[in-house]
Amino acid sequence: MCGIVGYIGNREVSGVLVDGLKRLEYRGYDSCGVAIIDEGRPKVIRSVGRIGELEEKIRLTNPTNGSVKCGIGHTRWATHGRPSETNSHPHRDCTGRFYVAHNGIIENYLYLKHRLVVEGHVFATETDTEVLPHLIESYYDGDLEEAVRRALGDVEGVYGIVVISSEGDGRKIVAARNGPPLVVGVGSGENFVASDVPALLPYTRNVVFLQDGEIAIVSSDSFQIKNSQGECMCRPAETINWTAEMAEKERYAHFMLKEIYEQPRAIRDTLRGRIGENDTVTLSSELHNAAIFAGVERLQIVGMGTSLNAAQVGKFLIESLARVPVDIDNASEFRYRDPIIAPKSLVIGITQSGETADTLAAMKEAREKGAFLLSICNVVGSQAARQSDAVLYTHAGPEIGVASTKAFTTQLTALYLLALELAQLRQTLPAHEIQRHVRQLREVPDQIQKILDQSQGIAELGERFCRYSDFLYLGRGINFPIAMEGALKLKEISYIHAEGYTAGEMKHGPIALIDSEMPVVVLAPQDAVYRKTMGNVEEVKVRDGIVIAVATEHDREISQKADYTIYIPDADPLVNPILATIPLQLFAYHIATLRGCDVDKPRNLAKSVTVE
Ligand code: BG6
Repeated sequence: MCGIVGYIGNREVSGVLVDGLKRLEYRGYDSCGVAIIDEGRPKVIRSVGRIGELEEKIRLTNPTNGSVKCGIGHTRWATHGRPSETNSHPHRDCTGRFYVAHNGIIENYLYLKHRLVVEGHVFATETDTEVLPHLIESYYDGDLEEAVRRALGDVEGVYGIVVISSEGDGRKIVAARNGPPLVVGVGSGENFVASDVPALLPYTRNVVFLQDGEIAIVSSDSFQIKNSQGECMCRPAETINWTAEMAEKERYAHFMLKEIYEQPRAIRDTLRGRIGENDTVTLSSELHNAAIFAGVERLQIVGMGTSLNAAQVGKFLIESLARVPVDIDNASEFRYRDPIIAPKSLVIGITQSGETADTLAAMKEAREKGAFLLSICNVVGSQAARQSDAVLYTHAGPEIGVASTKAFTTQLTALYLLALELAQLRQTLPAHEIQRHVRQLREVPDQIQKILDQSQGIAELGERFCRYSDFLYLGRGINFPIAMEGALKLKEISYIHAEGYTAGEMKHGPIALIDSEMPVVVLAPQDAVYRKTMGNVEEVKVRDGIVIAVATEHDREISQKADYTIYIPDADPLVNPILATIPLQLFAYHIATLRGCDVDKPRNLAKSVTVE
């Protein structure tokens, strides 16, 4: 997954491009580049590594005298051709007239490359993308839009692209989308194109999300959206209620830490307008089709990464509150196992970005098999939202840190609300029970704030454990996915090997790993399986394992058994997963920062992967 920006207007173009790329760097950061048309002459500056290095190169080469007004930029997450200056975007054609920045994969690029080489084109890179400027060159007869449309007609694969040319007045950006996201930012006397909203927020909040197969022709004073047949589409701009500040770090050292501390606000916003008078849940307006939900006989949830862990918690919440059987699927496996989708099935896709290719493909498969599609998503207008029958937005705000934090706890909150709505519709819980759960949810933001206020203790634990190289995370029941999430957070940002297991499973294998060098994080809140979990703590201790327990406040017993105990407020067992996640996020954060890792842009990862 890569980040793309384009600008046309009166500002100094390289400044706008670099600023936009910096705000998209979480999408990929192994190399980057810009191409601008300066008085009709194209200028390209590219660099391996972070935007900072590119910015320095631009400053030194001072490509423009501030007069130029049109350019495109790209920050890369390599798929074809290793990260290098040559392979970084934008790419050009043989004549140096057409420049393309691309996010996605051209699946038939080898065939196209061969055809173009036979026609005499000379290739300079190992990338799939380079076929695009050469195709445009081969079709160009004075109309850039038409040449782009014909070039894309030959392409198989997924793409978000921006194209500029020194031909004609060079005052036009042509953008096209098929799969990965692309947004037009509407300004006055200027316009923008970007892969994601954060790049646009400092300049405008009026945006138009391109849909698959659409092409945008953008100039400084107008833009047109056309479908693949070239017909104009009337697409009014939407106003995004995020501010640029919301997409900035404020006083925090990292976006991840800021987003951990934003969770009380994010959960309040996710509950807002969904809890009615006398503590009932009011989701039906968003679910669009209460009948489907009331009559649902089987539920399937798909997702990837942290969203898959949220799905696991969702299964527990929905089965215990609404008594509907729930299957969980790793989205990348779902479509290839020819899943059985019974009529009246409801399939939920959980995805923060709404753009993860594996999850989108699984949702598409489910739709083709006749399921009703609900997505739980954090980005308004994203592809998952657009391809669903109903959407339950998590109102976490922009999540910039690659490791997901606030999106996860808002996903759990949305799943809890959905389970209660289903229980209301199916009358599997008496009204007073629904009210009790709703009151519990209202307390969660303050309970999280209480944990955040004692994060110093967790920072000290991070200091104590930042030199270990293996960790085990154990949990039972609804807390097993939280053990998985805790292990995932540590892996993602500190590169330490960590595994999540059900505590019951431990003695059937992982127990062999336990010794004085193996810290074991145990989720042990006081719930129905507490006793069993305490037995597992004993099993670890008698093998000299080091136990770090996440426990319910006032639980004195566990502090006698565990080496270290992190307390969370006393809450309903179904609320514990949300609360127990916070200390694990902070633990991983402190260990990773102490090991000098770049927690916002961990190696080899990207915020959402838009290729299967
Ligand atoms: C990975 C991210 O690429 O995708 C994870 O690094 C995330 O943080 C996973 O959980 C799924 O992303 P999404 O946007 O579909 O929830």
